[in-house]
Amino acid sequence: MRDQAENLRQLVNNGHWRSPVIKGEALKTRVIAITSGKGGVGKTNFTVNLALALAKVGKKILIIDADLGTANVDLILGCSAQANILKLLEEGVTATDVITDGPRGIKFMSGGSGIYQLANLDEFQLQHLITKITEFDNWADIILIDTGAGISRTVLNFVTAADEVIIVTTPEPTSITDAYAMMKAYAGNEGKAPLKLVVNRVIETNEGQLVLDKLIKVAFRFLGLSIDSLGFVYEDRNLVKAVKAQKPLLLSYPDTISAKCIEHIAERLLNGKGVAHCNGIRGFFRKFLEMVR
Ligand SMILES: Nc1ncnc2c1ncn2[C@@H]1O[C@H](COP(=O)(O)OP(=O)(O)O)[C@@H](O)[C@H]1O
Ligand SMILES: [Mg+2]
Repeated sequence: MRDQAENLRQLVNNGHWRSPVIKGEALKTRVIAITSGKGGVGKTNFTVNLALALAKVGKKILIIDADLGTANVDLILGCSAQANILKLLEEGVTATDVITDGPRGIKFMSGGSGIYQLANLDEFQLQHLITKITEFDNWADIILIDTGAGISRTVLNFVTAADEVIIVTTPEPTSITDAYAMMKAYAGNEGKAPLKLVVNRVIETNEGQLVLDKLIKVAFRFLGLSIDSLGFVYEDRNLVKAVKAQKPLLLSYPDTISAKCIEHIAERLLNGKGVAHCNGIRGFFRKFLEMVR
């Protein structure tokens, strides 16, 4: 009797922050990698604010900081990471122990340098880690992975292992060229997940639309990629102030127009073309590790 009650309690606790599942619908955690060719395009701010926008409409979000060079999700989110992913290998440590609670119920995990070391683990350690990581699939509706900038093998593998990919660029020619290079490398890595595009730091509406149209057209023509437009985000000085205050834009300036842009993008992400099949975090790590080993 006691065992049954304990099992039930665990079941409830493990799934307590997941949105209710519609009857007949399989549990699906969307793993979305957010990347850019060039650094400094606003990827981390976008990831954090997108998470807040998705949480605002009731989604349960986990952010994984997988930027190995300049991991700063914690700075922008305004909360510091407890531990990195490798701590999961320790006896008795569960998924809950490596995540930090952020605003609006968002959870956050630092991949940190641990992600590099995953490739060196032995089979037993890996199985152990994957089993623990699978717990995230019970919790989250959407997992956002902030990848590093640049087109390194690790970044490319992260992006290729995800269920969906959002590429962030700005209207600057160097940023556009690098976003295109990322798309090309992705296609070359036999990436099959739906690609989505966001243009950040747009000064005029026309400019944003033009960049979206051009890049999508060129990627289709020369790479055979069909990329969805998620829209653009305006250049906003409030974002700079939000970064300095370590309080994300959507919380410090919720009514500013760039915050509304991000909310529209979240809406499009939820209501637009979905993915045929989500592999969840378990599938993500399996695929990632297959590629790095
Ligand atoms: N929409 C925006 N409007 C104004 N400044 C922005 C915007 N997005 C990003 N920035 C600026 O770019 C900086 C880098 O952003 P960050 O999210 O850390 O980029 P990345 O993760 O791509 O390196 C921010 O600190 C901010 O100064
Ligand atoms: Mg960043």
